[in-house]
Amino acid sequence: MSEQAPHPALLIPGPIEFDDEVLKAMSHYSESHVGMPFVNTFGETLSMLRKLFQTSDPNSQPFVLSGSGTLGWDQVAANLAEPGDEVLVLHTGYFADSFADCFETYGVKATQLKAPIGDRPQQDEVEKALKEKNYKMITITHTDTSTGVLSEIEGIAKLVHKVSPDTLIVVDGVCSVGCEEIKFDEWGLDCVITASQKAIGCPAGLSIVMTSARGIERFRARKVPPGSYFASWKNWLPIMQNYEAKKPSYFATPSPQLIHALHTSLTQILSRPLDERFKVHKEVSQKIKKAITDMGLKQLASKPENQANGMTAIYLPEGMTPPEILPTLMKKGVVFAGGLHKEIAGKYVRFGHMGVSVTDPKRDDIDRAIKALKEGLTEVGYKAPNGSS
Ligand SMILES: Cc1ncc(COP(=O)(O)O)c(C=O)c1O
Repeated sequence: MSEQAPHPALLIPGPIEFDDEVLKAMSHYSESHVGMPFVNTFGETLSMLRKLFQTSDPNSQPFVLSGSGTLGWDQVAANLAEPGDEVLVLHTGYFADSFADCFETYGVKATQLKAPIGDRPQQDEVEKALKEKNYKMITITHTDTSTGVLSEIEGIAKLVHKVSPDTLIVVDGVCSVGCEEIKFDEWGLDCVITASQKAIGCPAGLSIVMTSARGIERFRARKVPPGSYFASWKNWLPIMQNYEAKKPSYFATPSPQLIHALHTSLTQILSRPLDERFKVHKEVSQKIKKAITDMGLKQLASKPENQANGMTAIYLPEGMTPPEILPTLMKKGVVFAGGLHKEIAGKYVRFGHMGVSVTDPKRDDIDRAIKALKEGLTEVGYKAPNGSS
């Protein structure tokens, strides 16, 4: 049983439910951010991130900065691109628009390759786009949290290495790191950004980034300094390297309590084989998707290979809107999110299934949510088509 105050299960696609131990780690007494106990904790946290991203290259570089996932976009745009550079942004929903907007803020020219809602750009389209221009970087949203569309990172990375080997491969893994497989070294990725509050299972407030040796070389070879102060790796690189070498240093004050929470959640995640973690997320996701199909409902991501394992975006029955069903679900003890994709936001809801709600056998969040959705839809007047239950 959780020691937390009773509350509806938070099943939005981040933030997610916390493990008690992660929350308790936050109530650590105050300590100096340059004292050895905290420096050791931060250093171990960075080393554990290497394992989570499956990199053993000592020259790849983790960064953990105070901020949300959005700060990862700023770190990429400010440090890995220069004003006037061309970048190719693969679009699978809302978050590609925002990443592109972030690039433009730094004077970087973002070209978006868009797929129809619920789909992802196809390999031949990506290949054609890569041959049209000399792109400094390609970005891929691993799971787009607005659509639940999963991108196929390994295949795209292979293609980029073949067709445009100098193009840096950057992955927005804010909604995937911790619940979808990412093999940073094996797939030859250059930068993966994420945040603390989704499948990693921490409170929001940390921007987490892994960069390859090649990414760091590109950063060092910049012609102009980064156009950001707080997000500049010129400021953070020596600090991260010092922390991992267990040496105190300072650029800006970190959040010791959040780092303790991240240390605890990473220790928990890494205490079991990662493959097992990805497998259980997949199995639970399939169960949810089957239940939704059985209710006669459709997903935004219509093809099985496009469907994320940490969330599901579900079209509501014709004519029904999120404000009609979300309060009913809340009364039944589960919180889902409304739609986010600008063109269809009023037509669907999002069900997040990441972290302890999926991995902790003592919790019944997922079964309760499926039951609540089924009963809730009936209560607000939905009749499943014949043959659906
Ligand atoms: C795929 C993706 N990228 C980036 C972000 C931005 O992260 P944050 O809201 O933590 O700033 C989000 C947030 O949900 C996201 O889902």
